[in-house]
Amino acid sequence: MRKKIIIGNWKMNLTDTETRSLLIGLKENIETDKVDVMVCPSFISLLTAKNILEDDDILVGAQNVFYAEAGAYTGEVSVNMLENISINACIVGHSERRKYFSETDQDINKKTAILLEHNIVPILCVGENIEARDNNTYMEIVESQIRKDLDNIDIRKLKDVIIAYEPIWAIGTGKTATKTEAEDMCSFIRYIVATIYGKEVSEDVRIVYGGSANESIAEEFLDCKDIDGLLVGTASLKPEFVNMVKIAEKKVKEKVL
Ligand code: PGA
Repeated sequence: MRKKIIIGNWKMNLTDTETRSLLIGLKENIETDKVDVMVCPSFISLLTAKNILEDDDILVGAQNVFYAEAGAYTGEVSVNMLENISINACIVGHSERRKYFSETDQDINKKTAILLEHNIVPILCVGENIEARDNNTYMEIVESQIRKDLDNIDIRKLKDVIIAYEPIWAIGTGKTATKTEAEDMCSFIRYIVATIYGKEVSEDVRIVYGGSANESIAEEFLDCKDIDGLLVGTASLKPEFVNMVKIAEKKVKEKVL
């Protein structure tokens, strides 16, 4: 049974002081063992987040990592540095990094591999742009990203990967995918993972939706059998995030009854 997860991607927002106060608020308002909750602050606040959340169940993820263990890579952060402060997960392949920092699928593949070697969960983002959606090539685009980004990954570790379907046209635009668009693509991603790595692995991998995710879509998206959670940008900085966690928790409780 896959555990639902709500992940906040804070992007390049919040100073360390602001991080501190948002986390104190989240800690007071979120208490659940039914769903996983994760926040991904900037590098500079990862340690602050770990310290504040020390005795809490909220997980902490990074937004990026470099693929070499160490060395002369000015400005980069290594997986050892994340591991040393017990970071749980790391976003890779976000469309903003693909676009503004020219990250390729090969880079993303190396980052995914090194994270798994160090037992840090990669949150692998894939998704098509608006042109691909309009000209109906979106499925092959996403399939190609998954095949390249997960190429040669140790099959025993693959079940730990979280895949985030984030259509680029939905990110930061306030225009979410419809439930059918999100559900169809998340099911397709699971099918692709099953084709490459087998059904058993595909049943363990968590697949989440991201792209203007908000409180009002949480209810119906979290009902979909192949959507295991949400990757939340803008709304993760608002009180709405807590409500999204509560909705996820309610869904889990409903299923148990
Ligand atoms: P958004 O960002 O919710 O603001 O669209 C999501 C993301 O980029 O992960």
